[in-house]
Amino acid sequence: MKDHLDKSDHIGRRMFMKILLGTGAAIAASLVAGPSAVIYLEKRSYKENIKYRLHTLANFDTSNILVVYFSRSGSTEIMAENMADNLKANLVRLNAPSYKLGYLGWLNSMRDAYFKIPSNIDPEKLDLSKYKLILLGSPIWLYRPAPPIKTFIKKNKFTENKVILFNTYNSKFTDEAIQEMQDLIEKVGGKFADHIHINRNRMLNQISVEELISKTKELVNKRKEFWL
Ligand SMILES: Cc1cc2nc3c(=O)[nH]c(=O)nc-3n(C[C@H](O)[C@H](O)[C@H](O)COP(=O)(O)O)c2cc1C
Repeated sequence: MKDHLDKSDHIGRRMFMKILLGTGAAIAASLVAGPSAVIYLEKRSYKENIKYRLHTLANFDTSNILVVYFSRSGSTEIMAENMADNLKANLVRLNAPSYKLGYLGWLNSMRDAYFKIPSNIDPEKLDLSKYKLILLGSPIWLYRPAPPIKTFIKKNKFTENKVILFNTYNSKFTDEAIQEMQDLIEKVGGKFADHIHINRNRMLNQISVEELISKTKELVNKRKEFWL
């Protein structure tokens, strides 16, 4: 009788271990597979965006309009370049190496967006005093503009410049997050004037780069008069 109980106990323990290991393996696989798919699609998107970069963008150093942007996989960059081209604006890219494409960069992006951790950006400060109009661009991370653009705003002195916020995203941002950006811009001396955004749609159904460019042109042409 005791032998029988020991045996069934042993089988029970083995079953439990198998279930535990199986569940652990399934969780580990989903933790790797989900982000891996996202990273693969981001890299594909980056490669596609590169083909549409405006390498011939003129130098508008003397302009009183400035476009400052951060971009990880190149979509906000396409939007920023086309806006700068259309508005004959000076263009500055914020580099943030800890968010570069790949698994580690993605983890850092998620962590800093979630915990609202300021970013290491380059350049950190710019002389904004000569600009009448400043356009600040960023992707949306966890429903709000990504940390680098927020860090840039906090680190700089705005001098009553008119400020436009622009974003690219895949599905959703919150109005509270945009209100928070408006409050922040006004706190550092800027005059928040507008928010424009382009929804690229969910990862497997995203708009083409040509569509992104034509939507950008449409938005700028519609609002240019109001901005200037
Ligand atoms: C860490 C991370 C979080 C994101 N969170 C959101 C989100 O909350 N809502 C959304 O619509 N898109 C989200 N996205 C998608 C990006 O906003 C979208 O792909 C954007 O166009 C990328 O711009 P970029 O190519 O300039 O980096 C997220 C992307 C990353 C990397």
